[in-house]
Amino acid sequence: MKKEKYNVAVVGATGAVGEQMREVLEERLFPVGELRLLASERSAGQFLEFRGKQIRVEVLKEYSFQGVDIALFSAGGSVSAKFAPIAVAAGSVVVDNTAHFRMEPDVPLVVPEVNAQEIARYKNRGIIANPNCSTIQMVVALKPIHDAARIRRVVVSTYQSVSGAGRMAMEELSQQVSALFNGREIKKRKFPHQIAFNCIPHIDVFLDGGYTKEELKMINETRKILGEPSLRMTATTVRVPVFCGHSESVNIETEKKLTAKDVKAILREAPGVLLCDEPEKNIYPMAIDAVGKDETLVGRIREDDSVPNGINLWVVADNLRKGAALNAVQIAEILIRDHL
Ligand code: A2P
Repeated sequence: MKKEKYNVAVVGATGAVGEQMREVLEERLFPVGELRLLASERSAGQFLEFRGKQIRVEVLKEYSFQGVDIALFSAGGSVSAKFAPIAVAAGSVVVDNTAHFRMEPDVPLVVPEVNAQEIARYKNRGIIANPNCSTIQMVVALKPIHDAARIRRVVVSTYQSVSGAGRMAMEELSQQVSALFNGREIKKRKFPHQIAFNCIPHIDVFLDGGYTKEELKMINETRKILGEPSLRMTATTVRVPVFCGHSESVNIETEKKLTAKDVKAILREAPGVLLCDEPEKNIYPMAIDAVGKDETLVGRIREDDSVPNGINLWVVADNLRKGAALNAVQIAEILIRDHL
């Protein structure tokens, strides 16, 4: 017998993504029975609104998942590492927004427009991983092109907003902007350098070969989601002084020749994509337009004549929504529709 309502926990409810999770659950009329909002001691006693009611934020504990059907995690990798298995043991299905479980072979890594069929594999561990924000928006745009012409190589450069690094990072950008205008010293906590009026080519830690972990996440996750373990791909990820919305320059080479017109026709019909490509009217995707939208905006579509079958794209999405909260809730919607 199908349940009419599902008890949902949001772990990291006071964070930038947690806030969006609450909003998206409400907006999409997700059949929530009880909503449990979990965070650290720092937020204990705070009240947050859901469907017109004030809900008290509770401190995350081992016993927090009793009676919870679906637990949406976005409180950092170490919190997921410890508490996701506890939630599963208590009977919840976990949708995890951190990088902790993404590359484990028995954990599905899902973008519903691309590989919704993978959700069925949640039974292995009780966990479904939500990909990295930059990966999600890119694969939404790439999948229909891959299906039509088989992508052989991807070169991506990102322009990632500070909200991807959390609420404190957003405050850091505002404080730095105001400090600089008022001749005060800037404070640096979340970023290794001044982010105001700057671009920092460094997201997450540096690993072997000079790549950052964020860059390797994009490469490995894209291969896993597209089911192409040997896809040739390289990435450069950059933090820019934008509050919300990640932008990406994506260059691809396909096996079959596609014209720019072909790519536009494919993307016009693609699920989750909004084609914004009328350069003669100054219409192209921009972060400020993507904020609050569910779709991934794609434009600046051009043939790259420097290689036989090259295409350039500019891909933008709301990193807190499609890049995190919305993708997680879409996964939960399919879970309750087809599996729970
Ligand atoms: P809190 O607000 O109590 O610190 P962001 O990504 O915007 O920085 O948000 C991170 C979220 O994860 C916040 O809701 C934060 O709660 C929560 N969080 C961080 N560490 C823990 C922890 N050890 N236990 C529970 N929640 C945590």
